Amino acid sequence: MDLNLAGRHALVCGASEGIGRAAAHELALLGASVTLLARRAEVLADVAAALPCTAHAQQHDSIAVDVADAAALQAKVGGLAAERPVHILVNNTGGPPGGRAIEAGPDDYLAAFQRHLLANQVLTQLTVPGMREARWGRIVNVVSTSVKEPIANLGVSNTVRGAVASWAKTLSRELGADGITVNNVLPGYTRTQRLEQILRDRVQATGKSEDAVTATMLATVPVGRFAEAGEIAAAIAFLASPAAAYISGVSLAVDGGRMQSI
Ligand SMILES: NC(=O)c1ccc[n+]([C@@H]2O[C@H](COP(=O)([O-])OP(=O)(O)OC[C@H]3O[C@@H](n4cnc5c(N)ncnc54)[C@H](OP(=O)(O)O)[C@@H]3O)[C@@H](O)[C@H]2O)c1
Repeated sequence: MDLNLAGRHALVCGASEGIGRAAAHELALLGASVTLLARRAEVLADVAAALPCTAHAQQHDSIAVDVADAAALQAKVGGLAAERPVHILVNNTGGPPGGRAIEAGPDDYLAAFQRHLLANQVLTQLTVPGMREARWGRIVNVVSTSVKEPIANLGVSNTVRGAVASWAKTLSRELGADGITVNNVLPGYTRTQRLEQILRDRVQATGKSEDAVTATMLATVPVGRFAEAGEIAAAIAFLASPAAAYISGVSLAVDGGRMQSI
C-alpha cells in the first residue's frame, strides 16, 4: 500500500494540540512537509520543532492566525500557498460551545459558520490552485459524528457540521477531475481538551460526578473506551495518502462503533 507523502506539503489547521497536532505528526511520519496553523505561535513553534523528518528535504513550519479572521487567513495562507503549493489541506479547528439549538442566538450561529464553513472555504480556495497544478490534492475535514446523528446539547455544532458535510460532498464532485479528493473524518469521543470541556459541561448540566458522566458516555461506545488523538490522525493520514486516491466524498466515522446508523 502506497502511503508515501515525500515531496508533498500539508497544511494542518488546529494543529497546536489534539487531533490536529496528532494528524501533523502522522503526515510528517509519512514524509510530508507540514505547515501547522493555529492561534498560539509559541506552542506551534514547539510542535513544529518536535515533528519527525523521515524524507529528503522535508521541512516543517507554522502560521499563527485565527481562522475566524478571513482577511488574515487570506494574507498569511495566500502568501504560503504562493511560495510553497499546498497538496494536503486538513481543515480543523476547535468545536463550538455546547448548548441547545433553541437557546443559541444568531451570533452563536454566525461565529460557528465563520470558524468552520467559511474558514474552510477560504483555505480551500487558497490551496486548490496549487493542487490543480500538481494534478494531485487531498482535502480532509475534521467534523463530527453529529453529521449523521445529531448529539444532544450540541445544537450549534450539529447545525454547522451538517453544512460542512454538504459543502464537502459538493466539492468532492467539483474537484475529482483535478485529482483532488475531499473527505470528512468524524471523530467519536477522543481524549483531547475538547473532550475535557464536554465532560465538564455535562457534569455541570446533570449535576452528576465526572466518573458517572464518563461511564454513561462509554456505555454507548462498543469498544468501551475513548479514542486517542493518534487513532483519528491515522484515518486522516490514510485519506491523505496515495493509497486513498479512489476514496472521495465520504464521511468516515472513527468512533469505536458508537454510531447506530449504517
Ligand atoms: N475530541 C473529541 O472528542 C471530538 C469529537 C468529535 C468531534 N471533535 C471535533 O474535532 C475537532 C478537533 O477537536 P480536538 O478535540 O482536537 O480539539 P482541541 O483539542 O480543542 O484542539 C483544537 C485546535 O484548534 C485550534 N483552534 C481553536 N480555535 C481556533 C481558531 N479560532 N483559529 C485557529 N485555530 C484554532 C486550537 O489551537 P489554538 O488554541 O492554539 O488556536 C487547537 O490546536 C473539533 O472541531 C471538535 O469539535 C472532537
